[in-house]
Amino acid sequence: SKITSLFPDNFLWGAASAAYQVEGAYNIDGKGPSIWDIFSHQPGTTHEGTNGDVAADHYHRFKEDVALMAELGMQSYRFSISWPRLFPEGRGKVNAAGVKFYSDLIDELLRHGIKPMITLYHWDLPQALQDIGGWESRETVDAFEQYARLCYQEFGNRVELWSTFNETLIFIGMGYFTGAHPPGLHDPKRGIQACHHVFIAHARAVKTFREYKNTGQIPANGQIGFVNVMQPHDSITNSSEDVAACQMADDLLTHWLYDPVLKGEYPAHILNLAQLTWDVPEFAPEDEALLKDNICDFIGVNYYKREWVAANPDVDNTKINTTGNKGSGQEFGIKGLFKFVHNPQSTYTDWDWEIYPEGLCVGMMRLKERYGDIPFYITENGLGAKDPIIDGEVIDQPRIDYLASHIDAAELAIKQGIDVRGYYPWSFIDLLSWLNGYQKQYGFVYVDRENDLQRKRKKSFFWYKDVIASNGSKR
Ligand code: BG6
Repeated sequence: SKITSLFPDNFLWGAASAAYQVEGAYNIDGKGPSIWDIFSHQPGTTHEGTNGDVAADHYHRFKEDVALMAELGMQSYRFSISWPRLFPEGRGKVNAAGVKFYSDLIDELLRHGIKPMITLYHWDLPQALQDIGGWESRETVDAFEQYARLCYQEFGNRVELWSTFNETLIFIGMGYFTGAHPPGLHDPKRGIQACHHVFIAHARAVKTFREYKNTGQIPANGQIGFVNVMQPHDSITNSSEDVAACQMADDLLTHWLYDPVLKGEYPAHILNLAQLTWDVPEFAPEDEALLKDNICDFIGVNYYKREWVAANPDVDNTKINTTGNKGSGQEFGIKGLFKFVHNPQSTYTDWDWEIYPEGLCVGMMRLKERYGDIPFYITENGLGAKDPIIDGEVIDQPRIDYLASHIDAAELAIKQGIDVRGYYPWSFIDLLSWLNGYQKQYGFVYVDRENDLQRKRKKSFFWYKDVIASNGSKR
């Protein structure tokens, strides 16, 4: 523990969540089905068939939850809006009860002095839009703009911080390459085109956001960003093959997904590769200018782990599920390009994610080198683990150690001149870990699933409370 910290006075200490993972109420008050409602109800898709039907029931208990956030001292709360709760069909008719829920949640946060940070898309696409092709269809792009517009109109006067999408790497990568997320495909060609439409939807939502700002419907301090996985890659050896493979992993998994929102264009050689191999992405006439003219205000980085990379002349194991398998030891790779490998020198979580706090600083340094001096928010960071319960108390010391060492790295980044504006641990409360069910816990608040979803403060809750109160000096 230290006496002073380098965190600026206006630094935002927060925590994060996502609609499908906390809300529950999946078919209540007019909400339409999302692709995750449909997907998770299909046998064999998730750990023991778990789903978000009830989740933490935050939909019904948000007042209690916001009171706990206030007790924790949270200065900001990152949450996502469920698109099918506002538009049950994805577009067209608005569900007033859905609008009311988020409006009430925002008011409740503001009443407690907590700044909302809204994510428009955290993977729960309305099923009705998937039925017309999902992100492969330009109609979904139009619908997204309509949805963003409604959110700006309804919530824009009260919310300063917005981001459009959460983690293209995961919902496109797992949706169209490994197939472990909906729509469950193994089709790079379709995935690259879908991903392109996501960038166009993003650019259009940024453009609309700025129009609302110009007319004063969104206050001048409103900011809009994009949230990406930040996954630093390091070569497992110094051999030229491994180093080249590592560069390829960086280009495909990082630059491909950051360049369009921070530079307004794809990395040229990767674009060539995709166009030669799969004849995609296909551009509409306005796409190029849309990307160029709508660079976002900040970047949100979700940091959990680094990946070690090696050359991969032979293994084709893109179809494995890299998130859901606890300790499976399976390795992901794209034949001819690269693969991820286990490093016996490294420390891993029970889910085989490397614990590498310095990577939080290293990752942002590398991004700054490529994109210049952009504002950063650390929009996710956390330890997924089965927490020990000792005499009825949740003693999640490993989570405290994990977060403390990452806060050290965030402070180091600030010391190196990186403009870091906020830290949002994943997550405020125990929630659904997509494919892993409820056994992979992340929260400061425990949800007793055997006991009417009762909330209980974990050891980390009291620890983080002190971190916030001391602006990061006590940790
Ligand atoms: C990020 C997501 O990928 O990581 C979160 O934005 C997710 O929604 C988190 O829960 C942790 O991943 P997982 O698979 O352990 O839940």
